[in-house]
Amino acid sequence: MTWEFVPIATANSTASVGKRLSIRGWIFRTRSSGGLAFVVVRDSSGLIQTTARKQTLGEAGFAQYSSALIESSVEVTGTVAEDARAPGGFELRVEVARVVSAAAPFPIFSGQTEEFQLDQRHLAVRSSDIVATLKVKAEILRSARAYLDERGYLEMTPPLLTGNAAEGGAEAFTLDYFGREAYLAQTAQLYLEALIFPLERVYSVTTSFRAEKSRTNRHLTEYTHLEVESAWADLRDNLELQEGLVLRICHDVARKRPKELESLGRKPEELLALKAPFERIRYEEALDRLRAKGVELPFGKDLGTNEERALTADRSEPLFVTNYPAEIKAFYMLRSTDDDRVVDGNDLLAPEGYGELIGASCRETSIDTLRSRLDRQGARLENYEWYLDLRRYGSVPHAGFGLGVERLVRWICKREHIRDTTPFPRTPSRVTP
Ligand code: 4AD
Ligand code: MG
Repeated sequence: MTWEFVPIATANSTASVGKRLSIRGWIFRTRSSGGLAFVVVRDSSGLIQTTARKQTLGEAGFAQYSSALIESSVEVTGTVAEDARAPGGFELRVEVARVVSAAAPFPIFSGQTEEFQLDQRHLAVRSSDIVATLKVKAEILRSARAYLDERGYLEMTPPLLTGNAAEGGAEAFTLDYFGREAYLAQTAQLYLEALIFPLERVYSVTTSFRAEKSRTNRHLTEYTHLEVESAWADLRDNLELQEGLVLRICHDVARKRPKELESLGRKPEELLALKAPFERIRYEEALDRLRAKGVELPFGKDLGTNEERALTADRSEPLFVTNYPAEIKAFYMLRSTDDDRVVDGNDLLAPEGYGELIGASCRETSIDTLRSRLDRQGARLENYEWYLDLRRYGSVPHAGFGLGVERLVRWICKREHIRDTTPFPRTPSRVTP
């Protein structure tokens, strides 16, 4: 007999009532009494209650199916019927059931410590919150790529092993590269900058590594970095692209994953209601707003978690903060022409206190300025000569940004901790499983 399997979501629908069909998946929950068993089976599309009777399956078949433990894999054929008591409103009346692999007692259940569950992450990824979050995350990536592709941006594959620690040496993972020191990439930016000369509009989705020891609910040591670089772009162009991208992602996700969002506590309407323009304030105005809320921060200090939260806790839309002081930002950011204490760059802060989603800037074009800033930062200048070449051979105004994908997922999916936005989180205390 050849089995033609349908997704469980297809079986669990009015259109399937009365049809005989086959599903396959994993046992989610079983309840049995006497000769009757209700076995809820899940696959990647959803859940359905299968109703098995000893009469139909025979003594041995019934015993095997009804006693299989949760997470056992099964293939089931039956007829779909409406049943208001079943989850989703339909049940599959079992005619044939096969246990493909009987599971050992599953080690994960509610009430365990977070740490224990993180040790079992390879199994915990089956839990419904993680599944919903990963579906949303995949949609975010799909949507981002579509948006950029439609605007003529080409996806690049920059290296992750690098001789430069572009975002500051202290937070770079160093490694021994056949006897010389190298780093795991903190950003693809410098490489994307090289690629705008032949291609003008480029982006990449790569892993960035940050050796941040701080344990916070928004830092990972390894995260997914969506970076975009545009030739001929100024601060306004850069802001508009970030805004358009984030809006497109929010709207797409709300339309395509409403059930998952609801299950995570995010109302899709909140995302659909977002519209351009996002409010834009300068760093100095952010300081004024903070002062009005009783948070004193001197000019030249970076906005930390507390400040970002104070600025955005009661907002429902993201907030652009532009023109940060040059001294707290990376060496490559362009000084503003109207005030050379600050740069033509911005962060995008998520609403509801979730904090920074994007770091962005126009890029400095003066070789002397770049050299002296690198020098002050204690960088090895010889490692950056290739980057300075980009200013020697046909330099153009350009700008770009980096979006922390897990940060965006955390806000959209209302996750308390950033580790809940990625299947195998990497933090200072965890590199396994
Ligand atoms: O602000 P950052 O450091 O900017 C850059 O790396 C630029 N070179 C990007 C560019 O212009 N191409 O990082 C960009 C974003 C942050 O806004 C944040 O969302 C995310 O990356 N990020 C992290 N996400 C998770 N864990 C961490 N430790 C992160 N560090 C930064
Ligand atoms: Mg930043």
